[in-house]
Amino acid sequence: METRPWLLQLLALLITTTALLLNPSTSTSSSTSTVDDLPALLSLKSLITKDPLGALSSWTINSSSNGSTHGFCSWTGVECSSAHPGHVAALRLQGLGLSGTISPFLGNLSRLRALDLSDNKLEGQIPPSLGNCFALRRLNLSVNSLSGAIPPAMGNLSKLVVLAIGSNNISGTIPPPFADLATVTLFSIVKNHVHGQIPPWLGNLTALNDLNMGGNIMSGHVPPALSKLTNLQYLNLAANNLQGLIPPVLFNMSSLEYLNFGSNQLSGSLPQDIGSILPNLKKFSVFYNKFEGQIPASLSNISSLEHLSLHGNRFRGGIPSNIGQSGCLTVFEVGNNELQATESRDWDFLTSLANCSSLVLVNLQLNNLSGILPNSIGNLSQKLEGLRVGGNQIAGHIHLQILESYPTSKNYLYFRIDTMGRFLRQ
Ligand SMILES: *[C@@H]1O[C@H](CO)[C@@H](O)[C@H](O)[C@H]1NC(C)=O
Ligand SMILES: *[C@@H]1O[C@H](CO)[C@@H](O)[C@H](O)[C@H]1NC(C)=O
Ligand SMILES: *[C@@H]1O[C@H](CO)[C@@H](O)[C@H](O)[C@H]1NC(C)=O
Ligand SMILES: *[C@@H]1O[C@H](CO)[C@@H](O)[C@H](O)[C@H]1NC(C)=O
Ligand SMILES: *[C@@H]1O[C@H](CO)[C@@H](O)[C@H](O)[C@H]1NC(C)=O
Ligand SMILES: *[C@@H]1O[C@H](CO)[C@@H](O)[C@H](O)[C@H]1NC(C)=O
Ligand SMILES: *[C@@H]1O[C@H](CO)[C@@H](O)[C@H](O)[C@H]1NC(C)=O
Ligand SMILES: *[C@@H]1O[C@H](CO)[C@@H](O)[C@H](O)[C@H]1NC(C)=O
Ligand SMILES: *[C@@H]1O[C@H](CO)[C@@H](O)[C@H](O)[C@H]1NC(C)=O
Ligand SMILES: *[C@@H]1O[C@H](CO)[C@@H](O)[C@H](O)[C@H]1NC(C)=O
Ligand SMILES: *[C@@H]1O[C@H](CO)[C@@H](O)[C@H](O)[C@H]1NC(C)=O
Ligand SMILES: *[C@@H]1O[C@H](CO)[C@@H](O)[C@H](O)[C@H]1NC(C)=O
Repeated sequence: METRPWLLQLLALLITTTALLLNPSTSTSSSTSTVDDLPALLSLKSLITKDPLGALSSWTINSSSNGSTHGFCSWTGVECSSAHPGHVAALRLQGLGLSGTISPFLGNLSRLRALDLSDNKLEGQIPPSLGNCFALRRLNLSVNSLSGAIPPAMGNLSKLVVLAIGSNNISGTIPPPFADLATVTLFSIVKNHVHGQIPPWLGNLTALNDLNMGGNIMSGHVPPALSKLTNLQYLNLAANNLQGLIPPVLFNMSSLEYLNFGSNQLSGSLPQDIGSILPNLKKFSVFYNKFEGQIPASLSNISSLEHLSLHGNRFRGGIPSNIGQSGCLTVFEVGNNELQATESRDWDFLTSLANCSSLVLVNLQLNNLSGILPNSIGNLSQKLEGLRVGGNQIAGHIHLQILESYPTSKNYLYFRIDTMGRFLRQ
């Protein structure tokens, strides 16, 4: 630890020296007058404490690289710029099990367009100097152990398109200078400890099509301004501390394909015409919130819908009878609500679900469903792994061979039946 400032000074000295060596006034090979990127790469390597796969073993200056001007261009993970010789255009060292910290000298890589250090074991902070990499388009530092706050200086990266720093230990709030990241299409801080409100100015980043802030500790309301993101396809705000109503305008974003509000304290009801205003939904999750009212029947009209998770709310009334009509559903979860079934037609939804040939999970548990299960319970997908119907008032018999008709379900059929195949009242 104590050697680091000394080391950085040495590297700074090295840069100066290299500048003198590599930048003679007689240089004709390049119109640029900057030093090359070798010192920054050496600094990166010097702060890697473990390299279990030997990924950086090629990162040496040896006799064969002597002679070629920029031997480091052939090092593992290094891609040099053709337009700017001696400059690194991309640094890709993902999934190599690297431990250590990220060198602030990477901020000297003035032509760097892509930096991927994801899926390693890197610790410490994201160096604020990365805000100096003005050419940077794609930054992926996901799946590490980085901590500290998101550096506000990264708001200077005016060409940034991908900013992925999820699955770390990052805290603090989303820095206001990020309002300038006008070209960002993907912004992911998923699974960190970022707090504060969702800034309304995120609605100004209209290039966004993927906004992932799930698994943090963000609080307050969902800002209506997010509805200005007319290119947004993926919105994940799950597993935060959000409360209040989802602004009705958010349901008007017809570009949305993936919408996850699960595990918050959101309330209100879903718009009954959701099926006509969000026609492209593939996944819709609002599980573990305080939603109430009816499950909109129009959800059945979304032909692309694959994943529907509404469990753990206060939905009442019946389950829409045509819910499986598109045939696309793989996950259908409405457990832990106050849903009702009394007459046999209230179970038509189950017959409809038999239409979904890739259905993997059906969760109906802990509701107020009564009556007799229709025989179509035996006609569900052969891929079924879980069928949870416990905690209701279901009566009648079920033929045990019906359960055996689901070869992949193993013991995931969550209900209690007696040896005669009768449902036990619960
Ligand atoms: C020299 O470095 C290059 C990559 O920079 C590597 O491919 C080569 O194997 C190295 N040679 C020796 C003798 O270490
Ligand atoms: C580097 O190359 C020069 C000429 O090509 C040679 O004289 C020198 O000995 C080489 N240095 C090393 C360390 O191989
Ligand atoms: C390189 O980066 C370091 C650390 O951020 C900084 O101290 C140094 O001034 C930079 N050198 C150049 C030449 O930009
Ligand atoms: C970022 O890295 C992670 C882990 O390597 C990977 O799964 C993810 O697809 C990457 N994200 C982007 C946008 O490249
Ligand atoms: C970079 O961002 C910081 C903090 O947001 C700011 O103070 C600084 O002026 C910016 N630098 C440049 C060159 O834009
Ligand atoms: C996460 O960061 C906090 C400080 O912000 C630290 O106390 C904690 O130990 C870190 N957790 C992990 C798993 O690294
Ligand atoms: C966001 O856009 C609105 C209107 O386009 C503008 O008034 C506001 O200043 C912008 N906010 C930020 C933080 O840039
Ligand atoms: C949704 O969009 C429609 C048509 O563009 C508009 O009539 C309606 O008022 C919008 N709803 C909300 C809640 O903004
Ligand atoms: C589903 O779509 C059809 C055709 O657009 C429409 O007639 C019907 O009312 C819709 N159903 C629901 C429940 O919204
Ligand atoms: C099953 O799928 C077909 C074709 O997609 C559709 O016409 C039919 O209405 C569906 N049946 C049910 C019960 O949803
Ligand atoms: C459950 O449904 C029955 C009618 O089937 C009704 O009498 C009862 O009040 C319902 N219970 C709850 C908690 O909704
Ligand atoms: C279940 O499927 C069988 C064969 O595909 C069919 O004969 C039967 O009518 C179906 N039962 C129900 C209740 O849909």
